[in-house]
Amino acid sequence: MTVTITGEYGANKNSLMPISGETRVVGVFGDPVAHTLSPPMHQAAFKELGLNWVYVPFHVRPTQLKQAVDGVRAMGLQGVNVTVPHKVHVMRYVDEVDEEARLIGAVNTIVNDDGRLIGYNTDGRGFVRSLELEGFDLHEKKVLLLGAGGAALAIASAVARSGATEVTIANRTVEKAQQIATAINQLSVARAVPLSEEETVFIDAANEADIVVQCTSIGMYPNHDRPPIVPVQLFRKDAVLVDIVYTPRETSFIRDGRARGCPVVTGEGMLAFQGAIALELWTGTNAPEDVMLQALIAELKAR
Ligand code: ATR
Repeated sequence: MTVTITGEYGANKNSLMPISGETRVVGVFGDPVAHTLSPPMHQAAFKELGLNWVYVPFHVRPTQLKQAVDGVRAMGLQGVNVTVPHKVHVMRYVDEVDEEARLIGAVNTIVNDDGRLIGYNTDGRGFVRSLELEGFDLHEKKVLLLGAGGAALAIASAVARSGATEVTIANRTVEKAQQIATAINQLSVARAVPLSEEETVFIDAANEADIVVQCTSIGMYPNHDRPPIVPVQLFRKDAVLVDIVYTPRETSFIRDGRARGCPVVTGEGMLAFQGAIALELWTGTNAPEDVMLQALIAELKAR
């Protein structure tokens, strides 16, 4: 018997998701998880691909992370995304961590390969894909990252793998930038500089950069009225300015960059495409990237 349930799958409220004995389950482990934007993106993709799959949010407390990961094996989930606060700790509970996730020190996607759980990190590759789909290539480019948190590390690693000639990490706490530079310097020329308009070394890096990526939380809702972390006039007019913040979609960094005439890339693409790459790892099928991005944008607008 096939049971059909109607539900409100994010922005697409008309979607029908038939649950049957064949339905395959993926999802996301987080704490909290109620705010997750991923289900509508993945549901839209499964619908587009005609896959009888379902993406479920699972509220997993830190003390029960191991049991939850064991549950992926026990219940035969195809895989899960892993979000805050589990991305680091989950590494000890999977069977294998791929090389990129190991370098980043965090897993955001687990693939269940016949009972063997493999941890990946798709954040950095999602970022690179968001640039490529906008027509920007990283090959032989000088890239400047503003900020040195977890997102910056994932991006630095992927950018270095994508053929950037030089990756400069600028951070208020320069030691954290140095840790990232050290982690990736086998992949590309990497260096750390203080994120300060008073420092010549930062001004020079800003002036030389082909691509600048805003990786701090500055400008994120509810602090969206704040000016950018540094004035965009420090960057060349032909520099591509990217903000990984997606609430609001048009941050002060993006708005000022646009006004200066710089090409800009907004942050929701990275979120959509880290999901697209996870879906490809689970299904072995090319993700309908645009469908996922549009579902995400619709969900962001609906909130
Ligand atoms: P995530 O893991 O999401 O990338 P994070 O680890 O909290 O986030 O990192 C936040 C980044 O924003 C850091 O680079 C942080 O700089 P410090 O390492 O010096 O703390 C940066 N950041 C946050 N608020 C900032 C501020 N007011 N001025 C400058 N940098 C700031």
